[in-house]
Amino acid sequence: MAISLQYSHILILLLVLAFALPSSTSSQPTRLFHFNVQWKQVRRLCYTKSLLTINGEYPGPTIIVHEGDNVEIKVSNQVARNTTIHWHGIRQMRTGWSDGPAYVTQCPIAPGGTYTYKFRVIDQRGTLWWHAHYSWQRASIYGAFIIYPRMPYPFSSSIQEEFPIIFGEWWNADTEAVEKEMMLLGKGPNNSDAYTINGLPGPLYQCSNKETYIKNVEPGNTYLLRIINAALRNELFFAVANHTFTVVEIDATYTKSFTTTAIMLAPGQTINVLLEANQEPGGLFVMAARPYLTSLFPFDNSTTIGFLRYKKRKIGKFPPPVMSYSLPDNLPSMEDTFFATDFLSKLHSLGSASYPCRVPEIVNKRVISTISLNLQDCPGNRTCTGFRNMSFFASMNNQSFIRPSRSILEFHYRNLTGFPLSTAFPEKPPHPFNYTGVDSVAENMKTEFGTKLLEVPFGMKLEIVLQDTNFLNPENHPIHVHGHNFFIVGRGFGNFDENVDPENYNLVDPPERNTVAVPMGGWAAIRLIADNPGVWFIHCHLEEHTSWGLAMGLIVKSGSKPDECLLPPPNDFPSCGKF
Ligand SMILES: *[C@@H]1O[C@H](CO)[C@@H](O)[C@H](O)[C@H]1NC(C)=O
Ligand SMILES: *[C@@H]1O[C@H](CO)[C@@H](O)[C@H](O)[C@H]1NC(C)=O
Ligand SMILES: *[C@@H]1O[C@H](CO)[C@@H](O)[C@H](O)[C@H]1NC(C)=O
Ligand SMILES: *[C@@H]1O[C@H](CO)[C@@H](O)[C@H](O)[C@H]1NC(C)=O
Ligand SMILES: *[C@@H]1O[C@H](CO)[C@@H](O)[C@H](O)[C@H]1NC(C)=O
Ligand SMILES: *[C@@H]1O[C@H](CO)[C@@H](O)[C@H](O)[C@H]1NC(C)=O
Ligand SMILES: *[C@@H]1O[C@H](CO)[C@@H](O)[C@H](O)[C@H]1NC(C)=O
Ligand SMILES: *[C@@H]1O[C@H](CO)[C@@H](O)[C@H](O)[C@H]1NC(C)=O
Ligand SMILES: *[C@@H]1O[C@H](CO)[C@@H](O)[C@H](O)[C@H]1NC(C)=O
Repeated sequence: MAISLQYSHILILLLVLAFALPSSTSSQPTRLFHFNVQWKQVRRLCYTKSLLTINGEYPGPTIIVHEGDNVEIKVSNQVARNTTIHWHGIRQMRTGWSDGPAYVTQCPIAPGGTYTYKFRVIDQRGTLWWHAHYSWQRASIYGAFIIYPRMPYPFSSSIQEEFPIIFGEWWNADTEAVEKEMMLLGKGPNNSDAYTINGLPGPLYQCSNKETYIKNVEPGNTYLLRIINAALRNELFFAVANHTFTVVEIDATYTKSFTTTAIMLAPGQTINVLLEANQEPGGLFVMAARPYLTSLFPFDNSTTIGFLRYKKRKIGKFPPPVMSYSLPDNLPSMEDTFFATDFLSKLHSLGSASYPCRVPEIVNKRVISTISLNLQDCPGNRTCTGFRNMSFFASMNNQSFIRPSRSILEFHYRNLTGFPLSTAFPEKPPHPFNYTGVDSVAENMKTEFGTKLLEVPFGMKLEIVLQDTNFLNPENHPIHVHGHNFFIVGRGFGNFDENVDPENYNLVDPPERNTVAVPMGGWAAIRLIADNPGVWFIHCHLEEHTSWGLAMGLIVKSGSKPDECLLPPPNDFPSCGKF
């Protein structure tokens, strides 16, 4: 008895050792994945098209790893198009070469080419996702990226099962053609034909009864829903009839838990919620997602639904799907800014002893940037069909970001300064004006084009205030920062006031994310520690805004210690020719 007790102590000790995170990567397991970029004939809405997929799957395969694992994903491009993949939200400590945005960190993987993305998942746990980062390929090339924790979940609940809920958008058209046409004509892009849940539009769309997501549940069980907004153009509301959600995690960081009747999720964001199957056996409940509309432009305003189906008392029997239903009462209306604002204000970092909130209380630099749409004379001798026959663009601090034809990260690593890059990204708007009060059809809504980056030393504590403008259209913009998580210390409507607003910042338990939904006609202040050397894309995750230049690049210089330096590029790194 005594002996076995001793052994069990040793066993526990060994387990603790095995689960502690050593600084060397070699002792951690390496998870290998193969991603083949392939065409696949897929039928939705009575329409069959060739869809770009990973391994023929739509949505793509789920990546499952543990915190601390090394990950290697070999991507083989088997189509006659360029591609890249981005591991959305993965910190990529010192491994910017594996981050993925085309022409920011890498050149595309050419047709027939392969590239193995290699990185380690460090101090992150929960739900993230991955998607193509070339043209508009992410419409069909996306999937979940699940990181299991080394320690038990900090929320006291027994979870019987978990499942992903991934929102997407389906176009009957080729989405690369949608982007090309939009850029050529200077107009807004064609709307998608449907929103989807796990690739399925559901019965509110023509001939989609069979393409409906149905999740069978056991009465009395608790489920963990890993929810991802992979849509290209809209924030979404989501609710399940007669059920509530308990929010426990956002963007792979734990939150203080709270109960809500619905959620708002911006493109790029993820959220984990618990759902108690507390209804009667045999019940059928509608789950629905529809956009949070903050734009005056016409958008896809349709609704995708699926079902939560309770097992009947008789073991193994589920009710047949009934195609008569009404939308959940608890689904917010499409203009419900009050719900969206209230919901986001409830998100707080967990801030426990095991998961402290590491928000910088003081910062070394504050950058204030407008995020804006713009209107430009139609380029070249073309005829534009956008507003006033002009061409839409977008900018940050009046700089419309042009991605060069080479990797910016490679320029940086090789110390090549000068044209086409500069580190002169303006740290304040060009001149103070009433950002949210300006006439939305002002005479001069022009912008400047270039590739100006913000360069900061290693370890800098940085604040970025993102200020929406009224140019053309005040709108909720989901701004995504690559390579870093940040803390959302403040948000508000109207113009940011540097003398007043910082006094009301939450520097105790602000939510930690990689994508912030900046309020329509308002601002958001984010703080981060620039502790990841490399070049990082910062951009609006509404896809047309990235195409129009609502983006910038953040250069974090290497530090003085070896482990503060960007690693050299891997041997198979796709480069656009010799430097
Ligand atoms: C693929 O990318 C390379 C490198 O940027 C470029 O030269 C080529 O034109 C692209 N090919 C296609 C089909 O877009
Ligand atoms: C966009 O929509 C217009 C009008 O329906 C159509 O003529 C055009 O072909 C569409 N463009 C693409 C790329 O599908
Ligand atoms: C679900 O909620 C609706 C409206 O809130 C209510 O009418 C209905 O009876 C509820 N269904 C069940 C099974 O409780
Ligand atoms: C969706 O938009 C169309 C036109 O863009 C409009 O006719 C329709 O009423 C809208 N539907 C809803 C539910 O708002
Ligand atoms: C525009 O058209 C004129 C006359 O056809 C031509 O000389 C000029 O080069 C064109 N400009 C551009 C930018 O294509
Ligand atoms: C836009 O261009 C079209 C065709 O070129 C023309 O008929 C129309 O009058 C123009 N509209 C404006 C506002 O200039
Ligand atoms: C770039 O400059 C740094 C600092 O001067 C130097 O340590 C590094 O070796 C240079 N890198 C290359 C690729 O020349
Ligand atoms: C900005 O413009 C709006 C709308 O005209 C107005 O209500 C607001 O007071 C203005 N703000 C400032 C700081 O001038
Ligand atoms: C942005 O830049 C353009 C081109 O230089 C200029 O015309 C415009 O006035 C600038 N906008 C603002 C808000 O400063």
